[in-house]
Amino acid sequence: MRLYDALSAYSRTGAVPLHMPGHKRRPEDYLVGAALDITEIDGFDNLHQPEGLLRDAMAYAAGVWGAEHSAFCVNGSTGGILSAIHACAGRGEKILVARNCHKSVWYAIELCRLTPVVLTPPMVEDTGIFASIPPKMVEDALQMEENVALVVITSPTYEGVISDIAGISAAAHRHGVPVLVDEAHGAHLGFGPFPLGAVRAGADIVIQSLHKTLPSLTQTAIAHVQGNLVEFGAFLRSKNIFETSSPSYLLMASCDGCAHLLAERPAQIEAWYAILADFSAQMQTLRHLRLLCPTDSPAVFSADPSKLIVSVRGTGLTGPALLDRLRREFGIELEMASADYALAMTGLGTVPEHLDAFAGALLAIDATCRTLPADKPIDTPPVPHLCLRPADAISAPQADCPLHAAEGKIAAGYLWAYPPGIPLILPGQRIDAATLAYLAALRENGVALSDRIAVLL
Ligand SMILES: Cc1ncc(COP(=O)(O)O)c(C=O)c1O
Repeated sequence: MRLYDALSAYSRTGAVPLHMPGHKRRPEDYLVGAALDITEIDGFDNLHQPEGLLRDAMAYAAGVWGAEHSAFCVNGSTGGILSAIHACAGRGEKILVARNCHKSVWYAIELCRLTPVVLTPPMVEDTGIFASIPPKMVEDALQMEENVALVVITSPTYEGVISDIAGISAAAHRHGVPVLVDEAHGAHLGFGPFPLGAVRAGADIVIQSLHKTLPSLTQTAIAHVQGNLVEFGAFLRSKNIFETSSPSYLLMASCDGCAHLLAERPAQIEAWYAILADFSAQMQTLRHLRLLCPTDSPAVFSADPSKLIVSVRGTGLTGPALLDRLRREFGIELEMASADYALAMTGLGTVPEHLDAFAGALLAIDATCRTLPADKPIDTPPVPHLCLRPADAISAPQADCPLHAAEGKIAAGYLWAYPPGIPLILPGQRIDAATLAYLAALRENGVALSDRIAVLL
């Protein structure tokens, strides 16, 4: 039985709730969903020791995504990523990590006192967007480095760039090292015509936010574990550390509902893909703005078409200015903007009217743009040179420093733009002139960044 149906049936029984939570299933105090919000009462299993309804729901989800084991996560992909890295940390002291990983990965590295060996992906030409991590980069790094606990890659990236996870996994497995894919933005991959996802491509651990692209409540995620390099039990033990001991039944019912939806409503996925194709066709008539297609770049293995990247290069607009015009003039709210582009994210809940409105707004703004002589692209972010482990830098004596005076100093904290939460400076990194020039260029183009950072004394 679907968890949602079990909760609905239970809420109609009129059972007296002398147990947590304190709202007693009364929705009067603005508690949307209170009627279904229970705790681990008899018959409703326990996420951290699943033996009934939840065990069955998670086994069903594993079947839907094609994994050996799956577990619902109620603290987002953040909780899943912390658990996955913590579970693998004992395998070695180093971690091979893509430079464009989310802050949850870096926090896990800090917490587990790992030494990051940073893999810097190439850039999609003239865009400021990271391209795919080539399998050879992983292979070469593993030839050089010993005692590597794990390889961590983000795929798809925030902008939808997908790496060759099959090739990366094959390279890592030749060295006996497991691969964790942060697929927070790709729970829909492999369904309908969308490109292959990381589970079926052979990664060992895959963490997906269900809430980012599927109709699921915020904070819902799922972890998939397979193969013999990572023990599912070890992952669950770590998940117990990082996840609440009172997981929300609303969130878990939402996870379960997503799995059923993917399996039972393929037409809805096809329809989403079809409206994306229509939108892309309409955007061919733009004269100044440009809908980017990352797969045009030879440095991109594959891309998720659900992320819509609008380039403003050569129009006189910045990404944040485009985002602002869409909000103020058309009531359209985008996900984020960087210096040279703005990013719209679609999901399984996107309807044709959303994309018609977006297309109309872009065409109207495009008509007010001019094409200017090609402006100089922002330099690619410099490769960070780490002098210390992040954990050691963070715990060392430090002082707050204005960025303009930080050249040559070693960072004792992170600097990032949020979203997307990818570090621009890492703790332990020597701050060089190239990094400061890159940050200044981002700021000049409207990207909000702190102008101070903690540095080692
Ligand atoms: C690439 C990536 N990984 C992980 C996360 C964390 O996901 P969650 O918000 O589900 O914790 C995010 C959040 O934006 C992200 O962009």
